[in-house]
Amino acid sequence: MKLWAGRFKKEIDKKTNDFNSSIAFDQRMYKQDINGSIAHAKMLGKQGIISADESRLIAEELNNILNEIESGKLAIDPDTEDIHTFIESELTKRIQDTGKKLHTARSRNDQVVLDLRLYLIEEIDILQDQIKELIEVLLNKAEKYSQSVMPGYTHLQRAQPVTFGHHLMAYVEMLLRDLDRLNDCRKRTNISPLGAGALAGTTYDLNRQYVAEILGMDGVTHNSLDSVSDRDFAIELVSVLSILMVHLSRFSEEIILWCSFEFRFIELDDAFSTGSSIMPQKKNPDIAELVRGKSGRVFGDLMTLLTVMKGLPLAYNKDMQEDKEAVFDALDTVKMCLTAFTPMLDTMKVNTQNMRNAAAGGFINATDCADYLVSKGLPFRDAYKATGELVARCIELNKTLETLDISEYKSVCDLFDEDVYEFISLERCVNQRRVYGGTSPECVKAQIERVRKIISNM
Ligand code: ARG
Repeated sequence: MKLWAGRFKKEIDKKTNDFNSSIAFDQRMYKQDINGSIAHAKMLGKQGIISADESRLIAEELNNILNEIESGKLAIDPDTEDIHTFIESELTKRIQDTGKKLHTARSRNDQVVLDLRLYLIEEIDILQDQIKELIEVLLNKAEKYSQSVMPGYTHLQRAQPVTFGHHLMAYVEMLLRDLDRLNDCRKRTNISPLGAGALAGTTYDLNRQYVAEILGMDGVTHNSLDSVSDRDFAIELVSVLSILMVHLSRFSEEIILWCSFEFRFIELDDAFSTGSSIMPQKKNPDIAELVRGKSGRVFGDLMTLLTVMKGLPLAYNKDMQEDKEAVFDALDTVKMCLTAFTPMLDTMKVNTQNMRNAAAGGFINATDCADYLVSKGLPFRDAYKATGELVARCIELNKTLETLDISEYKSVCDLFDEDVYEFISLERCVNQRRVYGGTSPECVKAQIERVRKIISNM
């Protein structure tokens, strides 16, 4: 029996019922639906809209329903239209006329958006914990490898030496901003729309603030039409998740490169790698590839939400039922990615010698060689040109700046002396980059300390 049975002469067509129904995916909000209803019933009682006894009975029975769903004693009926309908009809089955009073001064339109907000808040909290866990792993690794020299790249060409710790801390900074964006998004989500009714508010003397307080929400929405029409809190969350996935995907791309035989900077643990069905030598970074691939899903979910919402007139439209699958899929995907990604990183082996060898192979210290001449008084542009000539000479002779004879140096510029070798040593190149945010081990340690403080104050 439908909620609207009074107005209709026929039951809904069976297949159309399935099409119209959202129970398959909104049943995961049963707890939020029940808690929202308990808060509503308490408020109705407090305001004298229903009696104190009725309010108590409704709250008590809703709690029983919650416990029974959680223990598996009560199964959610897949033939009901949505989770709101299921809970209300279950309540009415149990306490008859009193149950029928629960929906006084409420619509599913304000109910569904409350449920979704409550659900997303819990998910944001879980996600933030997962991101913090990843940050912890990265901080420990960054500390361990704060002295390990590797090539830093631009255009994927060896550019200047950095430390592996510094490189990892770059991702920590991105993740910190993701945490911050989630905080922001949480603030705008944790607001109660209940009391907006179907769209126009209600004639009953509600205490909306009291409902928000019971639910631990930070306030109430200010316009009833907006309250039931707004899904931008969900769009915002999936935007934040998309940005997070960009970060995880870039990181994954690097992991994949670093695992390749050409780089061999890291080796993933067997527990986080896969083999090939035909090539016995293969060890594949599938987890990182999947994270990179799944970013596409999350961006797709964002596009779904934006497209569903973009042409809708105010206020509620059934199109908005489509919001949930997209936002749930994005959340499930990101949580799954983090669940695999964090231990994969935690257990990876780092080949610092290969990193150092790669850094020593090119002309990664050419900038420092030019800086040497600047320290001897040559203007930077001239120093740059002289170093360019040196590099060309090295290529001709199949040498590096470290192995090129001092006579070659002197033939290019007589300001060069034996101390140039010490000046352009990779360790010195790294240690000298002491500017705030730089790659020197002491700067990296300061970055780590800063983040540790921020995380412990969260
Ligand atoms: N299942 C619906 C949704 O997810 C609940 C709200 C339905 N309201 C309505 N008037 N049809 O959006």
